[in-house]
Amino acid sequence: MQFYIDTANLKEIKEAQDLGILDGVTTNPSLMAKEGIVGTANVLKHYKDICNIVDDNVSAEVIALDYDGMIKEGMELAKLDDKIVVKIPMTKEGIKAIKYFSDNEIRTNCTLIFSAGQALVAAKAGATMMSPFIGRLDDVSYDGMDLIKQIIGIYSNYGYETMVLAASVRHTMHLIKCAEAGADIATCPLSVIASLFKHPLTDSGLEKFMADHKKANSK
Ligand code: E4P
Repeated sequence: MQFYIDTANLKEIKEAQDLGILDGVTTNPSLMAKEGIVGTANVLKHYKDICNIVDDNVSAEVIALDYDGMIKEGMELAKLDDKIVVKIPMTKEGIKAIKYFSDNEIRTNCTLIFSAGQALVAAKAGATMMSPFIGRLDDVSYDGMDLIKQIIGIYSNYGYETMVLAASVRHTMHLIKCAEAGADIATCPLSVIASLFKHPLTDSGLEKFMADHKKANSK
């Protein structure tokens, strides 16, 4: 399973990249706003800065909601760097734009997926990847993992190549369940990636190894 970091914070992206297990980055307009990135020129520069840190797969979201605007913005983003994946919301106009980009060999991430029907349409339009939001479904008392499993089943029935990018991942159990279900990618904050490393038995085991080593070597 590929790991993406879900942030626009350059320091966190660098820290995740330095771990050597990062496959990409997802951003969205809220995450960009959180970093105080405003104005087209600054936004484009920020995406370029992210591309300069990671190896590939930087999802950059269009702001336009109409087809022509999405095409214009998406082309501008795609031209910025080969690592850019144009992120487009799941709307009727968005699906038309994804089909256009797919026909023109520009990678896309269809975002804000909350149902199997939306996932089916995204795959038919040729999205490179699509983002079902697990955590936000959990927030409204629907099991987000059920949707991930349902989409993987449907895609496998027809051999769709669109990758399932589990998004809105809030904790390590989400990540583990995504891996069990066979999600292609999971995107989450740095804190969730970091908590994968932790286990109390690892900590106590290491402490004992070090104490025994110190005792033996002080004789
Ligand atoms: C991913 O592409 C989304 O931007 C993100 O995972 C949303 O996560 P949230 O529901 O925690 O905001």
